[in-house]
Amino acid sequence: MSKVTVVGAGAVGATCANVLAINEIANEVVLLDIKEGFAEGKVLDMFQTSALLDFDTKLTGTTGDYAQTANSDVVIITSGIPRKPGMTREELIGVNAGIVKNVAENILKYSPKAFIVVVSNPMDTMTYLALKATGLPKNQVFGMGGALDSSRFRCYLSKALNANMNEVEGMVIGGHGDTTMIPLTRMANLKGIPASSLLSAEELEKVSADTMVGGATLTKLLGTSAWYAPGAAAAAVAESIIRDQKKIIPSCVMLEGEYGQNDICIGVPVVIGKNGVEKIIELELNDAEKAAFAKSADAVRATNDVLKEINIL
Ligand code: 2OP
Repeated sequence: MSKVTVVGAGAVGATCANVLAINEIANEVVLLDIKEGFAEGKVLDMFQTSALLDFDTKLTGTTGDYAQTANSDVVIITSGIPRKPGMTREELIGVNAGIVKNVAENILKYSPKAFIVVVSNPMDTMTYLALKATGLPKNQVFGMGGALDSSRFRCYLSKALNANMNEVEGMVIGGHGDTTMIPLTRMANLKGIPASSLLSAEELEKVSADTMVGGATLTKLLGTSAWYAPGAAAAAVAESIIRDQKKIIPSCVMLEGEYGQNDICIGVPVVIGKNGVEKIIELELNDAEKAAFAKSADAVRATNDVLKEINIL
């Protein structure tokens, strides 16, 4: 039996709950929001697709009643405001930090053993905040960004290669920001064949640039931030925990010496299984990649510092 709570019934949270339900990843999905009746409505709508789509995941919607989330195995935090066109994820910190801290503390009360997956932006800093606010071990609290950014990277790669998406591999590490993420083009490959031997340097550079603004491109098109891919990425992370898939998923985790960093949550490849973050994989980065990672960490750290300035930590 597995229970997943999704906090925040906005577009990302509802999509995530829907993917979890339709694919029967969890036996029970609880969707919680503070807006009266909103989560209940989304869940009722999903329930009414169950006969059509043939799934029987138990669905519960609640307006702020954390008791309903008790004993969740995984909790996905999507609460907070999304960005508008032209905004960076970092600009959301003032509003979202208070929300995420409050949510994390409430989750802890009812599900102290749950794995907490943070989606809210700025994701790296919100993960750091959730980890510090709950005091939970670092395998239990981590952020989703790398799963999403790597999925976008693989999409753009498969397009450039004109290849089957499932045969294309690629990872994005670093922060989940337009200028902080690092698509690892050197390691990207098609069925083991280096992408660098199949694409020109310019083509690979474009794939990388498109990946980095993957979210911003959608924000411009939609007038708000994306939801299908972020929701599905969070569900995929939950699935790797619940089904103990031990997938290697770039995720935002607390580093303690790895990659030359300390006291920071930032994206690196990790193994995700029934114990949450089971292993941090230390890639052999070249000098340029190392420099990009250090620069990305500096930027994430600067955003983390804002938490102190606004008296949240
Ligand atoms: C994105 O990149 C919402 O941060 C999320 O679309």
